[in-house]
Amino acid sequence: MKKIVILISGRGSNMEAVVRACAREGWPARICVIISNRPDAAGLGFAAANGIETKVVDHRQFDGRESFDAALEREIDRFEPDLVVLAGFMRVLTDAFVEKYAGRMLNIHPSLLPCFPGLRTHQQALDAGVRVHGASVHFVTPTLDHGPIVAQGAVPVIAGDDAAALAARVLKVEHDIYPRAVRWFIEGRLSIEGERVALAPSEPQWLFADIAGEGV
Ligand code: GAR
Repeated sequence: MKKIVILISGRGSNMEAVVRACAREGWPARICVIISNRPDAAGLGFAAANGIETKVVDHRQFDGRESFDAALEREIDRFEPDLVVLAGFMRVLTDAFVEKYAGRMLNIHPSLLPCFPGLRTHQQALDAGVRVHGASVHFVTPTLDHGPIVAQGAVPVIAGDDAAALAARVLKVEHDIYPRAVRWFIEGRLSIEGERVALAPSEPQWLFADIAGEGV
């Protein structure tokens, strides 16, 4: 049984998608704890209602990134996880923290990386005039929103979109690609080869949103 720890900061819909897929598909894995850096994260309610342990490590109680990350590390390591899943966890992590979990920490970012790292990715996409946008699941490296890409999901940008409409379309593919990617990790099917992630046996590491008739 593989052990998974999930970190959130807010709504937790990606966490929820992973928890539900794990239960529905009977993964050989257990979600040990949901840790939030915000006491008011809505996702904590879902976790508790589903019998998953929750923990808050409030970043405002710490005087720097090092001390916050050290406290976070202590909570994570209580469970000796095989995998740490960042699911809308909105804190920049120290290099030492990232290196400790190298090769066993995944993140989802709402853009087709390496385009649009950072915040307000949907507005960045609209401002750049791209016609295709999406989300990426990647292994976490010390460079923010960068690292070997496990899976990507693409959606069209449709005339009249604002950032909220685009975000909602992207979120749907996030909920599809993140559980898939986590499952591949749990099944021991992923290997990092430089900047690339190989999946064995092979299957598509991409997804194109199915919104027939809405494309341009
Ligand atoms: C998601 O769109 C996720 O991709 C994004 O935050 C949202 C969290 O939603 N993450 C980042 O921007 C990380 N750089 P959720 O809490 O409902 O999963």
